[in-house]
Amino acid sequence: MENNIIISANDLSKVYRRGAEEVRAVDGISFEAFAGEMVAITGPSGSGKTTLLNLLGCLDNPTSGTLSAGGREVFGGGRAPGERELTLLRRELFGYVFQKFYLIPTLTVEENIMLPGAFYEAPGAKSALDVMRLLGIERRYRHLPGELSGGEMQRVAIARALINSPKVVLADEPTGSLDSRRAGEINEILRSLTRRGITVIMVTHNLELAGLADRRLEIRDGKIHAA
Ligand SMILES: Nc1ncnc2c1ncn2[C@@H]1O[C@H](COP(=O)(O)OP(=O)(O)O)[C@@H](O)[C@H]1O
Ligand SMILES: [Mg+2]
Repeated sequence: MENNIIISANDLSKVYRRGAEEVRAVDGISFEAFAGEMVAITGPSGSGKTTLLNLLGCLDNPTSGTLSAGGREVFGGGRAPGERELTLLRRELFGYVFQKFYLIPTLTVEENIMLPGAFYEAPGAKSALDVMRLLGIERRYRHLPGELSGGEMQRVAIARALINSPKVVLADEPTGSLDSRRAGEINEILRSLTRRGITVIMVTHNLELAGLADRRLEIRDGKIHAA
């Protein structure tokens, strides 16, 4: 199984300093994610879920600990990668999905989806039409985000996350602004990615959706609690 590990974190910590105050947002987390599994991260507000997700996705530097992603040690042993190396890693390995979609309001659906590929074409990059079809939004390609429902906007954001054929999709409360029916649909879409071998790591407050994941990590005060 070992060669199926796509992300491996060992004793990972992130400490924020606010003046004299120290916040251990992530406090010694060890965790492995396997290819093609869906992991739900749950826990109270402020428990460190977003910080953890950002560390796993190499969007943020840990204060200590080691992190390997895609078979490479990224952080660890006093090593910190350069910004260029990090940028390439983010583009090739990860797709990111957020609660607030972050679509560009003046670009069409198709243009939003093509945006990551406009600057960099990863090996195995997909066409906008392929990912729009996968998400069932191909008939919306000329629409602006403001003309879409929340569920459709999140589909566009997921399509955008898939354009560079990521191995890991990280989603921070992707259904947080959707009603329960749309939330279920988005969850099912994320679930379906695992059947293509993509690893999905999702932060959610929705315990029902978390229960549909292969595994659940409950975070409290920056630490993993048995869920
Ligand atoms: N950039 C930051 N600077 C200082 N403190 C931060 C920063 N980001 C998060 N924190 C603190 O870290 C803790 C965890 O935050 P976060 O990871 O956003 O939690 P969650 O996503 O579970 O709500 C909180 O106490 C938060 O205030
Ligand atoms: Mg959060």
